[in-house]
Formats: sequence, structure tokens, C-alpha cells
Amino acid sequence: MEVKPIADAALGAEVRGVELSRHFEAKIMKGLADALYEHRVLIIKDQKLDKDAYLDFGRWWGTPIPHVLDHMRMPGYPELLAVGNTEEKDKNIEIRNGAALWHTDQSYEQIPASATMLYSILAPRVGGETCFANMVAAYDALDKDTKAEIENLEVAHLYGAGKLLDLEFAANPLKTGDQVERVPACHHPLVMRHPITGRKALYATGQSAFGIKEMEESRAVELLWRLKMHAIQDQFVYAHKYSVGDIAIFDTLSTMHSGTQIDIPDPGVEDTKRLLWRISVRGYPRVYEYLAA
Ligand SMILES: [Fe+2]
Repeated sequence: MEVKPIADAALGAEVRGVELSRHFEAKIMKGLADALYEHRVLIIKDQKLDKDAYLDFGRWWGTPIPHVLDHMRMPGYPELLAVGNTEEKDKNIEIRNGAALWHTDQSYEQIPASATMLYSILAPRVGGETCFANMVAAYDALDKDTKAEIENLEVAHLYGAGKLLDLEFAANPLKTGDQVERVPACHHPLVMRHPITGRKALYATGQSAFGIKEMEESRAVELLWRLKMHAIQDQFVYAHKYSVGDIAIFDTLSTMHSGTQIDIPDPGVEDTKRLLWRISVRGYPRVYEYLAA
């Protein structure tokens, strides 16, 4: 297995020489987990997995989360989502581009995702990138006063309640009262100390962040906005252009990400289809406990 940092990128490494369908050995997983926590995003190249094998791979990273948008779940595979422009649901622009905003998966839930993976099944020739922001580097670059100011702040999160840039899409809408009830507002630290690396990161200043505990609303919104704009500067961001067979896996506690807007496929033009299989997990790789046992 070869792990190579992506040239001139703010974060991320490419992984080659591993066939996940055959090598579910603990030492391979340990190598991948260590690499993920070092580089925050891994692009594992040239994979050929069916849904069951992919889900097995996902389970090595934690417990897969069935998404609150239950109408988005894949039939027969509630922990998988089809993200792209190829399905009937994707004709709806709000669904197709519902991740084209800076966000952190499940930051609107009490226990957020710890990792997400996106497996590229169909990749368009143009566009369809996922942008990743390095929230550790963004935190490190803050001045001393700002670090002191935000150290113990607790951010209030609610699905889709964060302030958006003009270019961002709104979050994929919740469809039912039941879905709204399942994701009441919750709090997370603004400065997250990573449970595995111990490194501090700015956490989830996008999609769901709408307030700060014991802070006046307009001041909180202004501070969250300032930190979001800080974190998504080019110097902290890597945009990944997928090839078919890539599995992008990212540490959601130390990154933020955004999809890019895409049209429905053009029947007259080749390679305009985009399809990613998504798994998000809670918890941490079992491989650490397994090797310690
Ligand atoms: Fe996402």
C-alpha cells in the first residue's frame, strides 16, 4: 500500500496498491486509519466493490448511519445514499445540489458522523468535485486572541439553519414532520479536540451552525460567519475531481466539505453522469481495539 500526499493540496493523500474487496486485514485497516488521521482525507484509487462489500468496508470505520432523509436511502441498503444526477429523485435541483454548501455530516445530530466515504461509480468528465477544508490548519492559523475567544464556546446546530453564501445551495430539504422531529437543535464545541489525534480543529461552521450558547444572536451569527469564511479560503481547501473507482474517505471531525452544483446528465454528451455511494459512520475504527486485544 502506497500513501502519497496530494501535491500542493491543503490536505489529503492518495492511496494506491490496495484492493479492499480482498484485503480486509487488520494491518491494512490500521494503515488506512493512521493515514486518514494524518491526512484527514484519503482518496483510495481503483476500487471495485459491490454494495455489500462497500458496506463491510464502511463498518470497519464505525457504525453506518441511516440518513434522516429516509426517502434518499438506497432501497435495501438504508445506510447507503446515492449522491449524483442519475436517479429520478435527482431531477429535483434541491436534491441534486442539496450538498453543494459547506457542511459537516450529521453536525445537526447529537452524535455527529466521525467519517464519511464517497465511492465514485460514475464520474462526469467536467465538474462534480467535492471540496474539502482542513479545519485543523484553519484553526492553527487563527490569531491568539481569536483562539482565546472561541476556546470554550458551544455552537447551536439545527438542520439547514446556518447562514449561506450566495453561491451555496440550501441543504437538501427535510420532507416530513417526522424528519424534523428526529433532528432537534443540539450543541457541539466550536473548537473540537480530536478524540484520536488530540489536535484541535474548528468544528462545523457551515450548514447547521446558527448560534452560540450564552451569546447574543447577531454576535454569534457574525462570529460563525467570520470563522466559516476564514476556513474556506483557498489555502485550506482541496477540490477532488473523481475518477471512477475512487473512494474518498474523510475525517468529519477535522474537515468541512461542499459538493459542487451539477446539471442533470446531457443525453447528447458523453460522461455527464455523476454517481457516488455515500456512507457516514459514528464511532471509531474497530481496528484499534482489535489490534489491542
Ligand atoms: Fe456531506
